[in-house]
Amino acid sequence: MSIYLDNAATSYPKPESVYTTQDSVARKFGANPGRGSYSIARKAAHLMASTRETVAKFFNIPTSARISFTFNATQGINTALFGTLKSGDRVVTTSMEHNAVARPLHYLQQQGVEVVKVAADPHGRVHADAVLNACNAADTSLVVMNHCSNVIGTIQPVAEVSSWCRNHGVIFMLDAAQSAGALPLDVAGMNIDILVAPGHKGLFGPQGTGFFYVRDGIELEPFILGGTGNLSSELEQPAQMPERFESGTLNTAALAGLKAGLDFIESEGMNAIRTHEQNLAEFLWDRLGSIAGITLYGAGPGPGHSGPISFTLEGLESAETGFILDHQFDIAVRTGLHCAPDAHRSIGTFPDGTVRVSPGYFNTHEEMHTFIQAVKSLAA
Ligand SMILES: Cc1ncc(COP(=O)(O)O)c(C=O)c1O
Repeated sequence: MSIYLDNAATSYPKPESVYTTQDSVARKFGANPGRGSYSIARKAAHLMASTRETVAKFFNIPTSARISFTFNATQGINTALFGTLKSGDRVVTTSMEHNAVARPLHYLQQQGVEVVKVAADPHGRVHADAVLNACNAADTSLVVMNHCSNVIGTIQPVAEVSSWCRNHGVIFMLDAAQSAGALPLDVAGMNIDILVAPGHKGLFGPQGTGFFYVRDGIELEPFILGGTGNLSSELEQPAQMPERFESGTLNTAALAGLKAGLDFIESEGMNAIRTHEQNLAEFLWDRLGSIAGITLYGAGPGPGHSGPISFTLEGLESAETGFILDHQFDIAVRTGLHCAPDAHRSIGTFPDGTVRVSPGYFNTHEEMHTFIQAVKSLAA
């Protein structure tokens, strides 16, 4: 039986209700939501509206209409960055960002946007003061940062930065790819102007789902234009959200699956999920730390950590470690840079990267034992 330890990339397996919901929606309401006035198209549209409402309630988002669905976090991040920034603008970000943020910003920098990158400490922690100092240095339009590192699980001081941004008229955008579903996120209470999240990680939704929220009063330029099922006589893209950013047909069955994922979290309790995942992470951290030749990165499990643990094994490249774990032990872990090269520069593991272990809610302690035994035999 294979052991899946790559939940930071995508959660797997999904709750049973996510599979059954997708199957039943695809069979019973397979019409195009928002594209017809007949009964099953209306039902499909209703399903999308109730998924939007569920997302809004889950994240304490004041208006569900300000949420647009996407296929993943990357699409939402690109839409928000290209939609807000133009030549001459200044954006502050961090060295812990995923390429989903770093690459669009690099591209925008070449188009005349000033990009200021605040370096994290060797534990991957970005200090709020350093971000605020960077913002204060000149007129800044946007701060974009992740909530939690996809390499070592460090939780960043979001509330301190976001409240400063709200008081100083700077747009605050949060990449919640690793925290949505794992950590409490109160969009209104935390002064988040733009929130981007995938549906397929901590929210237990299917792949091909995600969303972004934009606070009322912030208007973005869309970069995908087309049919939205409304105002068809106009050549102008509709001004209102969510349609402004939802050209083309939505993945109705997958988004209904996302709602089932959110309902699952509500019924299990986010605390219970976090406690289980933290217990597994603590177990891994303790046992890995006692194996000779292992180096662990970051501050480790605790209130400032969520999700993945990264390590290297002396004498064995990360890619080789992952290959052997897969081929000899049927254990799936991620190796290398995890799409976040600057994060590895911060923690000192560039360019070889690390072995990343990210247990999820459906992993067991027995699986962690098996994994530790496998690593021990590699170390020996
Ligand atoms: C911090 C972070 N941001 C963005 C992304 C991109 O997410 P997606 O694969 O849904 O586009 C990831 C994916 O691992 C991530 O970890």
